[in-house]
Amino acid sequence: MNDHPHQSSSLTAQAGLPSELNQHNRRADDSAWIEVVQHMDSIYADLVHYQVELEEKNSALEDAQLFIQSVISSISDILIVCNINGEIQQVNHALEEIIGKTAEELLDKPISSLFCEQHLSLIAEFPEHIRSGSLIDCQIELISSEQKEIPMAINCCARFDHENRLSGMVVTGRPLGELRKAYSALHQAHEKLKTANLQLIQSEKMASLGRLVAGVAHELNNPISFLYANMHALKNYQQKFKTYIDAVHVNTSHDELQKLRSQLRIDAMMDDINPLVEGSVEGAERVSEIVQNLRKFTTPQEQKKQSFNLILVIKRAISWVLKAAKTSPEVIHNYPAELNIISNEGYVHQILINLIQNAIDAMDHRGQSKLVITVNKNDDSVQLHIHDNGPGIKQQNLVKIFDPFFTTRTVGSGTGLGLYISYGLATEQCQGDLTVSNHKDGGAEFILSLPLEAGK
Ligand SMILES: Nc1ncnc2c1ncn2[C@@H]1O[C@H](COP(=O)(O)OP(=O)(O)OP(=O)(O)O)[C@@H](O)[C@H]1O
Ligand SMILES: [Mg+2]
Repeated sequence: MNDHPHQSSSLTAQAGLPSELNQHNRRADDSAWIEVVQHMDSIYADLVHYQVELEEKNSALEDAQLFIQSVISSISDILIVCNINGEIQQVNHALEEIIGKTAEELLDKPISSLFCEQHLSLIAEFPEHIRSGSLIDCQIELISSEQKEIPMAINCCARFDHENRLSGMVVTGRPLGELRKAYSALHQAHEKLKTANLQLIQSEKMASLGRLVAGVAHELNNPISFLYANMHALKNYQQKFKTYIDAVHVNTSHDELQKLRSQLRIDAMMDDINPLVEGSVEGAERVSEIVQNLRKFTTPQEQKKQSFNLILVIKRAISWVLKAAKTSPEVIHNYPAELNIISNEGYVHQILINLIQNAIDAMDHRGQSKLVITVNKNDDSVQLHIHDNGPGIKQQNLVKIFDPFFTTRTVGSGTGLGLYISYGLATEQCQGDLTVSNHKDGGAEFILSLPLEAGK
């Protein structure tokens, strides 16, 4: 290859070569020059490209450095970065603040110079611990520029370089004063929480005891008023019987005795005694059942379920409520004479008493009060509808009607426990359901659903 094309072309001319050959040589020279220029162009373009790339990387590096610096300087815990010989390479602003020295003063100094003398041996062991892979977590005192001791909770761990070789350690720490304060605040808060919790448990216990007592009183109220009404009637009969027997003993004439007998309605009373006594026994049994349930409440156990005629229970509940009621509504029965289910008879009776009592209360001031009781049966359950022609239930009350103590009645006349107890009995004890809605023809309608065979 020619090092100097101009020199070479003049040499051929000087040598007297033919002009054709000269021309050929000149063309070769030109193409060599073009090649060189093109090559330089591409090298220059590469250089420009590398420079742009380098500038971009440089700016990203600067950004990353600024970011790391801003993070390190905003950490409130102290941060000391050392090489493997324990010489300080970097500290953060928090350390400068706490000990009152600048980063420049600290760089390349041994880390032990930052701490009290009594800890020197412990600090000397740091690199060894780090090599063995164990973490260091201890409480030691920093020494400030004014020779003041600052207790710190210190944490030390290993630092690795980009080839994953151990290159030093990183010490972080927090003044213990702050930690102690936080701990004591935490302790106090915990104590307060414990006391509040105890109070809460205590008041919850009292509230459930209150609910229990009120519930028992509510359930006892019905059979007792029924018993009371029966006893009152019997006492009245006893007076009349006494008058009649006294007349028999003083040899009153037959005609006069007959007259007295019809006047005192002795025969009607005789007919009435049996149902009165039977009803009273039933009422007493109910009271005793409630007391027994109360006992069982303290030692909960599965209640006895047996087969019984639901229709009889409905009839008995109606007669109980109507006996003690001031008004006597028209009662329409839409059910068969007999429908046997397996459930807890006492609970079903208790639910029905509450529902019928509520219906009677709701229709209290209505002119022509009417209660419609319908029973439908399907494959595995019965639905008992109790529909009254009272005012119905306000939309906003429908959602809270089964809540304990929800009542719209005047203070002292209702506890608001009837539906709460009934709902619990229907859903939990009888595995059924109790729902409420306003009937399309007016009034409220409660639907008690019961499985044909509870606990199956
Ligand atoms: N058939 C009904 N028609 C209209 N409102 C009703 C009917 N049944 C219940 N309610 C409403 O539901 C409320 C709660 O009934 P619940 O039986 O729980 O308590 P209460 O009847 O008020 O009090 P207690 O049952 O202690 O006598 C009643 O105050 C009443 O407002
Ligand atoms: Mg009620």
